[in-house]
Amino acid sequence: MDNTISNLVKISELLGDGQCHDGTSIGKKCGITRAAVSKVIKKFKEYGVEIQSIKGKGYLLEKPLILLDAKKIKKNIKTLSLIIDILEKVGSTNDYLKNDSDQDNKVKICVAEMQTKGRGRLNRQWHSPFGQNIYFSLRCSFQKDMSELSGLSLVTGLAVCNAITSITHADNLAVKWPNDIFVDQQKIAGILIDIDAGSNGFCNAIIGIGINVNMQNALKKEIDQPWNSLQKITGEYIDRNLLCAELINSLMNYLERFSKSGLSDFINEWKERDCLFGKSVALMSGQKKIMGIGAGINAQGHLALKMPDKTEKTFFSGDATLLK
Ligand code: BTN
Repeated sequence: MDNTISNLVKISELLGDGQCHDGTSIGKKCGITRAAVSKVIKKFKEYGVEIQSIKGKGYLLEKPLILLDAKKIKKNIKTLSLIIDILEKVGSTNDYLKNDSDQDNKVKICVAEMQTKGRGRLNRQWHSPFGQNIYFSLRCSFQKDMSELSGLSLVTGLAVCNAITSITHADNLAVKWPNDIFVDQQKIAGILIDIDAGSNGFCNAIIGIGINVNMQNALKKEIDQPWNSLQKITGEYIDRNLLCAELINSLMNYLERFSKSGLSDFINEWKERDCLFGKSVALMSGQKKIMGIGAGINAQGHLALKMPDKTEKTFFSGDATLLK
């Protein structure tokens, strides 16, 4: 973690008691100069963090803010050898890992406090304000053919649900094929996987995950579909460090099982969380709109739809919408 973000973490921890602190005492307690304190406060304001500057008194944080902290995350993860880069600001965590010079076969993770070019599926943008949500990418490789990786996004979706459930105890998380996480028909998380064929029969994958955690507001132009966040659902502010650690633990477990046995291990879990099953679905596949009833997934992870003529068809790509 670079020095700038560690100063952000220290000051947010201090202001986290909800009291007013003046610049000099913040500097002393955090072991930094008064000028460095002003720089951090200025940055917080630029990033949209609600901090009041009270004349003659100091600074006051208006809402809780627990920033990402490598120590807290590492304390709670089971795989000790992982490399985790925590960034204050990045274009996209997926692109960061793609362009990273250290491309060996080890698992590498990047988490950021904000993204300026967060990417969603189908060339959409992913709204990524500072300090509120999880913007996470994990790079790994599989000794599999590209075609065998079609189930990877589904398995990732289940791992995300598992991690969220163990931190929040929310019991109504559902997956929407191929890789959205929904609560009551509102999107709470999304997955974007970039895959390329490596050498020696390996495929490299960058698994990008965005989870709406403590986000309370967003303008329609920022998110153009119904959305929700974990704080809105549970009524509680969530420490993203704990969720991030749980996400890593859950992913390591699910990805290892996927690597060994493929998708077959997960078919039942998918059934339990599949929000399209038995429902009227519209699937946009290229320019075509296909209507059918959700009938689960096949062994490759393709979407099965029961067609109006009662036959069943499977689709390997597309954008599915649940019809009311
Ligand atoms: C979607 O539902 O359309 C996929 C959203 C994926 C967003 C995440 S946030 C971390 C990673 N970096 C990105 O630029 N995108 C993914």
